[in-house]
Amino acid sequence: MKILVINGPNINMLGIREPGIYGTETFQTLLSSLQDIAVSQNIDIEQYQSNHEGDLVDKIQAAYGNVDGIVINPAAYTHTSIAILDALKAVAIPCVEVHISDVDSREDFRQISYAGLACEKTIKGQGLDGYRQAILYLKEKYGA
Ligand code: DQA
Repeated sequence: MKILVINGPNINMLGIREPGIYGTETFQTLLSSLQDIAVSQNIDIEQYQSNHEGDLVDKIQAAYGNVDGIVINPAAYTHTSIAILDALKAVAIPCVEVHISDVDSREDFRQISYAGLACEKTIKGQGLDGYRQAILYLKEKYGA
């Protein structure tokens, strides 16, 4: 089984950006935890991070026919990007949305998720563990 983990803008700044909201664990920590999950769950995990909306769309399109599941934290593009929503709908790959913070308890503009409309599940407010939960969900449902 192959899972693509996609992170949007500023997720590469984890550990530096607003630690009171996103915690002190770094992006590198997230990447190594994904590697650990891949080994322990015997699945192939590819990660991709970009600050650019079109690059995220390109990556989702390139996943067509190549991955069994997508875990995506579109970050700020969650709340603005119909292009990312349409790309996820186009490839129709099982997808789980992750937010590190509890977006429900934050500003009004974070209450809409376009990408979430194409995802079968959303995990929010679980910190970096949300990625592990999303991967395990996809493995349980779609893994061989
Ligand atoms: C986020 C929440 C978004 O509202 C924000 O723009 C982010 C990160 C999260 O993981 O909690 O950049 O997606």
